[in-house]
Amino acid sequence: MKARPRPVTLAVDIGATGIKLLCLDARGKPLGARVRVATPSPATPQAMLRAIAGALGGLPRYDRVSVGFPGVVERGVARTAANLDRSWIGIDVARKIARLTGKPTHAANDADVQGLSVVEGKGVELVLTLGTGVGSALFLDGRLVPNLELGHHPWRDNKSYEDLLGDPALKRVGLRIWTQRLREAVATLRATFQCRILYLGGGNARLLEGHWPKGIRVVDNVAGLLGGIRLWEPGRVQHPPRSS
Ligand code: BGC
Repeated sequence: MKARPRPVTLAVDIGATGIKLLCLDARGKPLGARVRVATPSPATPQAMLRAIAGALGGLPRYDRVSVGFPGVVERGVARTAANLDRSWIGIDVARKIARLTGKPTHAANDADVQGLSVVEGKGVELVLTLGTGVGSALFLDGRLVPNLELGHHPWRDNKSYEDLLGDPALKRVGLRIWTQRLREAVATLRATFQCRILYLGGGNARLLEGHWPKGIRVVDNVAGLLGGIRLWEPGRVQHPPRSS
C-alpha cells in the first residue's frame, strides 16, 4: 500500500449533539470514513470522554490530535460550555484527550478550528457556525483572534445571536423566518466588523438556499474537521500542545 504523507492528524469535533472523528493525512486528505457518535446526555466530561474512547478503536493510525470544543478554550482548558454539562468548565480538554490517545493534542474553540480551514489569509475574515449553538471566529491576515463568542452577544430584544439563530430557534420558527433573521444578522455583523469575507458554516449551513451577497460564502461542515491540520501551523494560534 502507498505510504500516506505524515503526520496523520486525528481531528475530533466535539458537538452538543454529535462527536465527529476523522483522520487526515498531511495534505488534509481524509483517511478512512468519518466516525460519528451521539453526544451522551447529560453531556458530562466522563460520559463524553468514554464515548470518544469507544470510537478510537476503528480509526487508522495517527500521530497527533486536534480537538474542536464548543466553548471558550484557553491553552487547552475549557472556560465555558454553554450547550454541554457545566462540569466541563475548568477541564483541560487537550490533556484529557492526550491521555486517551497517547498523542500530542491541541484543543481550540470549534468555530476557530472550522475557520482555520476556510479562511484565505487576507485581511479581516469572519466565520459564523450554525449548529446547536452559534459559533464565531475572527481572523486578520490568517491569524486567529481566539474565542470571539459573538453567539452570546445581545443582538435584539435582549436576545443573543444564539437565542435567535441556534438550532432550537430554527426548530421553533422554521427555515424561512430563520433564514431571514440570518440575513439581517449577517448585514449587522458585516457592518460591525467590516470583514472582507463572512463565511457561514456548521451543520445548519447546509439548509441555506438562495443568493447571498458578494463577500458571503457558505462552506461545508466538514471544514470543522479539516481545520485540525492548520491548528498545528506555527503562528496560527499561540497555544502549545499537550502531550499527557
Ligand atoms: C459556544 C461557542 C461555540 C458555539 C458553537 C456556543 O454556544 O459558546 O464557544 O463555538 O456554541 O458550538
